[in-house]
Amino acid sequence: MDDYTIELENVTAIYEGERIPALYGISLAVDRGVILGVIGPNGAGKTTLLEVMNGLLPVTAGTVRALGAAVSPRNHRLRQRIAYLPQDMFFDPPTPFLARDVVLMGRFARLGMFRLPGREDHRAVSVALAAVGAEELARRPIGRLSGGQQRKILLARVIARQPEILLLDEPMANLDPQAKLELSHLVLRIHRELRLTTVVVSHEPGPLLDAADRIITIVAGRIAVPEQPPIHVRM
Ligand SMILES: Nc1ncnc2c1ncn2[C@@H]1O[C@H](COP(=O)(O)OP(=O)(O)OP(=O)(O)O)[C@@H](O)[C@H]1O
Ligand SMILES: [Mg+2]
Repeated sequence: MDDYTIELENVTAIYEGERIPALYGISLAVDRGVILGVIGPNGAGKTTLLEVMNGLLPVTAGTVRALGAAVSPRNHRLRQRIAYLPQDMFFDPPTPFLARDVVLMGRFARLGMFRLPGREDHRAVSVALAAVGAEELARRPIGRLSGGQQRKILLARVIARQPEILLLDEPMANLDPQAKLELSHLVLRIHRELRLTTVVVSHEPGPLLDAADRIITIVAGRIAVPEQPPIHVRM
């Protein structure tokens, strides 16, 4: 069997307490280094797709593999190698962390919660903040930053964490046109420099979807217009 970076085989996922699957019989193989765009109407299952790829949601049937191993909620070691930026993730104004702390949390994901950050971690955080051009935001409370500024900080956290897979759910939503453009280029740069495999749910036309190696449409929990054989995304 080929070792794809992400591989879903006949995946069905049902949320607890629900009867209708949010995903139904999804088969999809994603090669290393590609960008896969995911579109589809509200409630189609796009977020659910990212959740099974990242092991947040267990599958009811089928298998999910990433980086050569089975993805499951309990496979923490594997999940550390997958960064997930949830849809509408914004920090409230009273959130008691500085932007820099949020980036530093990316290091905990990699190195374990109970380890004190060392000089290397602080250096990685500074490098990440510089990479997204957000050094001047470092000492500000995260909840007081604008939506676009918060997104930049979350991308700095991705850089500090050095994952192999990046899952983004509507990263450009609620940003102004300039910020959308800037963020798209930032994601593309991170994708290339970290040699990531990136799956992005987005409806925003622009450089990020333009750069996608493939765009799939999810409708009512299925991949619309499935092709034969199952979809395989190549660079
Ligand atoms: N936590 C949950 N519990 C139960 N059902 C859920 C849960 N989250 C999502 N669903 C259901 O699963 C289906 C897919 O939802 P999902 O959030 O994946 O859609 P989506 O394509 O991301 O939509 P949107 O574009 O609005 O973000 C929907 O029918 C939704 O009602
Ligand atoms: Mg969603």
